Amino acid sequence: MRLKDKVAIVVGAGQSPGEGMGNGRATALTFAREGAKVLCIDRDLQSARETVDMIGKNQGTAMAFKADVTKEAEIKAMVSEAHARWGRIDILHNNVGVSLSGGDAELADITEAAFDRCVAINLKSCIFACRHVLPIMRAQKSGAIINISSMAVITTYPYVAYKATKAAMVSFTEQLAYQNAQYGIRANVILPGLMNTPMAVDTRAREFKKTRAEIEAQRDAQVPLRQKMGTGWDVANAALFLASDEANFITGVTLPVDGGASVRRG
Ligand SMILES: NC(=O)c1ccc[n+]([C@@H]2O[C@H](COP(=O)([O-])OP(=O)(O)OC[C@H]3O[C@@H](n4cnc5c(N)ncnc54)[C@H](O)[C@@H]3O)[C@@H](O)[C@H]2O)c1
Repeated sequence: MRLKDKVAIVVGAGQSPGEGMGNGRATALTFAREGAKVLCIDRDLQSARETVDMIGKNQGTAMAFKADVTKEAEIKAMVSEAHARWGRIDILHNNVGVSLSGGDAELADITEAAFDRCVAINLKSCIFACRHVLPIMRAQKSGAIINISSMAVITTYPYVAYKATKAAMVSFTEQLAYQNAQYGIRANVILPGLMNTPMAVDTRAREFKKTRAEIEAQRDAQVPLRQKMGTGWDVANAALFLASDEANFITGVTLPVDGGASVRRG
C-alpha cells in the first residue's frame, strides 16, 4: 500500500483500441492497487469506465470522469471533481499523448490542423492540468506530478509535432519542479521507450498495413534489453515510485524507462 490514503488524478486512464494494456490504464490500476483513490479521466468515458471496472474487481477505489483535456474548462471540472469528492489531490499523472494517431507527420507533410491538435493534446493538456492542481497542492504543501513524455525526445524520431511537444514537456517539468519545490511539490517526467501498448503497436499496424506481429518484431529488435519492448506495467511501476513517498527527495528528474535505448550510441 505505497499510496495509502492518497488521491490521484490519472489523465488518459482509458486506452486506445487494440490488444494489451496501455500505459495510462496500467498506471491507474497500479495506483489503486497501492491504496490511492483514483479519478480516471478520459475523453472516451466508456474506456475510463472499463479501467474503473477493472479496479473495482480488485477492490480499489476509482471513479471515471469524462474530460477532453485540450479544453481548460474541462480540466478545471476534473480537478474540482477530485477535490470535492476526496478533499485533496496528492498525485497528478499526465499520460495523454498522440503522434501518428493525431495526424503527426514529417515536416514536409505536417498540416496546421494536425500540428495544433498534437500541441493541444500533448502539451497544453499537461500545462493546464498542472496550472489547476497547483493551488490545491500548494495549500497542502505537498503533491507529486508525473508527466509522460517519450524517448523520442533524445532518440531520432520522424514526426515533428510529437518530438517538439514531448521535448517541451521535459523543460516544462524542470521549470515546474524548481518553481514549486518550496511548496513541497515534486514534479518528474518519464521517457517511455518502445512499449508494447495498443496505441503504439496497433495504430502502426493499421497505418502501415502490417500485422501486429510484424510491428512487434520490428520494435522488439530495436530494444537493447532482451530485445523485447517494455509494457504499460513498466511505465506504471516507475510512476508508482515517483508518486510514492519513497521518491520524497526526487524532483525535476527525467527518467527513461526504455530498456537501455538511451545509452545506445551510433
Ligand atoms: N506506447 C509507447 O511505445 C510509448 C512510447 C513513448 C511514450 N508513450 C506515451 O505514453 C502515453 C500514452 O500511452 P497509452 O498507451 O496509455 O496510450 P493510450 O492512447 O492507449 O491512452 C491514452 C488515453 O488518452 C486518451 N486521450 C487522448 N486524448 C485525450 C484528450 N484530449 N482528453 C482526454 N483523454 C484523451 C485516449 O482516449 C486514451 O484512452 C502517451 O503520452 C505517449 O506519448 C508511449
